[in-house]
Amino acid sequence: MKSIECKLLTCALITCALLITACSKKEQPAAEQSKAKWTIGMSQCNLGEPWRVQMNADVKKAADAHPEIKVVFKDAQNDTLKQQAQTEEFISAGVNLIIISPKEAAPLTPVVAAAYQKQIPVIVLDRRVLGDQYTCFIGADNKKIGKAAGKWIVEQLGGKGKVVELKGLMTSTPGQDRNSGFREGIEGSNIEIIFEADMKWLEPNARKEMESALARFDKIDLVYAHNDPGAHGAYLAAKAAGREKDIKFVGIDALPQEGQAYVKQGILAASFEYPTGGKEAIETALEILNGKQVPKEITLSSRVFTKENIDTGGQLLPQ
Ligand code: FRU
Repeated sequence: MKSIECKLLTCALITCALLITACSKKEQPAAEQSKAKWTIGMSQCNLGEPWRVQMNADVKKAADAHPEIKVVFKDAQNDTLKQQAQTEEFISAGVNLIIISPKEAAPLTPVVAAAYQKQIPVIVLDRRVLGDQYTCFIGADNKKIGKAAGKWIVEQLGGKGKVVELKGLMTSTPGQDRNSGFREGIEGSNIEIIFEADMKWLEPNARKEMESALARFDKIDLVYAHNDPGAHGAYLAAKAAGREKDIKFVGIDALPQEGQAYVKQGILAASFEYPTGGKEAIETALEILNGKQVPKEITLSSRVFTKENIDTGGQLLPQ
């Protein structure tokens, strides 16, 4: 190649490179352009469920208002080992703070403790880990929600009836608390739990378990499911068997687009709100990063939605 051609080619290549850099700069997310001061690692246990998609959206919305932070999201796809590994990755990457919504309590305790001991603040969101090796826990009181659901159900059924309980993952703390709280709430009544199963928070599992319950019992008055996908799965099973009109369904979460909509449609008799805490997690993260002291425990409030109160925004559970 002659030297003049060579120079022209080099010029063209440099122009191309400059153009590509300029274009890609324009497409960079806002947080990167603004050179965020702090990186937050957000470990989500599963994005296959509407409530968790909402939690991430709430985290993102709150974080977007603060150019000084950048949030890196990881989805463990409902796999405990993957969530352990992803949290370890956050530790080795040297993030400034970790927010984790752990799938299960015991197996995720050591990695949270490891981050905490390395002076990386950790906010545990919604599901707990064991012990106290974390900076702050944020979530609603699942025992209280379970108990309120129990009392509401006793009232609805006039003190007696046959109930199916579809439990959330029993190695996670909300499942344990929604179960024990509920049992306290129905204490002293003539409610009989005729069938109980761990549907692990997932609608298809709940549907299958409910099919078994329907096959075994001719009379079921009510299904108490630890989340709205569970209650909806049970409803679908009952509908397929032509029995949905004879049974009441109660769930937990009350997302506007999910549980609240089911209550409006008459699919659920009640849904108890379980706030995602995404906004509060970012507010707390900012306080920690700015060197402020935060409480070890932040308890969020909850509301109950029924057909009577859905149009007026539900009713706050007593503190
Ligand atoms: C989503 C979910 C919610 C539930 C929460 C409990 O994974 O099952 O439906 O309220 O987790 O941790």
